[in-house]
Amino acid sequence: MAHIIAFANQKGGVGKTASVISLAHALAMREKKVLVIDLDPQGNSSRILGKLLPSEQPRTVIDLFTKKTAIVSNTCVDSQIKGVKLVPSYLKLFEIERSMKEIERLSTLRAKVDRAALEEFDFVLVDTPPNLGTFLLNALIIADYVIIPIDAESIFAVEGLDGLLETISDVKSTLNPKLKLLKVLLTMVDGRTNTSRIIREQVTRAFDEEQVFRTTITKNTSVNKAHLQGVTVFQDDRKALAAKDYMKVAEELLECLNSSNNS
Ligand SMILES: Nc1ncnc2c1ncn2[C@@H]1O[C@H](COP(=O)(O)OP(=O)(O)OP(=O)(O)O)[C@@H](O)[C@H]1O
Ligand SMILES: [Mg+2]
Repeated sequence: MAHIIAFANQKGGVGKTASVISLAHALAMREKKVLVIDLDPQGNSSRILGKLLPSEQPRTVIDLFTKKTAIVSNTCVDSQIKGVKLVPSYLKLFEIERSMKEIERLSTLRAKVDRAALEEFDFVLVDTPPNLGTFLLNALIIADYVIIPIDAESIFAVEGLDGLLETISDVKSTLNPKLKLLKVLLTMVDGRTNTSRIIREQVTRAFDEEQVFRTTITKNTSVNKAHLQGVTVFQDDRKALAAKDYMKVAEELLECLNSSNNS
């Protein structure tokens, strides 16, 4: 059965999308079957993973919110990476949010994650937008786990998390009791700067040791370069520092889910 993991942080540009697509590729390289659900109207993961532009995809996440018969297993499309499928998003998703009634906003997606999809994949990674709105809530409602990428470049990175942590706790106590904060992942780490050191210390104070990935993601221009070309960092240069970091995070993730399954 698939582990469903939402990548969430209401701050923009912290590496949510980079983490989703890099880990999807890393897990696929480890022979895992991966589905990425893009719940961000910006459609950044869809643009990088998709074989087609988001606006040209035959099926998108919008179908899940608007069509009765659409479920995850009949809505996903092939990605350009072997072993990774995608439920793409695109800008029109913004309009859907406005037209949905309150109750539909929170109940739609859960009913759409069907058993066949859960059996087909080992991992479902959900990319979310930089706010605490409808799509983040939907991601938290369907997820087993949350990973919070935190960028080691911003001095307010840790204090800005209060709203997200409260939202996770609200969803857990109401709509999704199985939801668990898996780990935080420090991204954009530049060992030479004081900011990275300070954020690392703040994260260590704010979270228990087992709630933080031991591996951190190096700030590395290869990531940006890859994304500009519409490929993952592994496709651009699998020896890049950030590629090696993401592969280690994938291994840590497998290790930690294995041990939580056995306990
Ligand atoms: N480790 C890294 N080193 C250097 N650049 C990175 C790294 N990770 C991500 N980036 C770049 O930083 C920018 C923001 O990353 P990304 O899009 O993953 O953030 P995000 O949290 O998904 O943003 P948003 O909230 O807008 O969706 C992108 O241009 C990306 O290519
Ligand atoms: Mg993003």
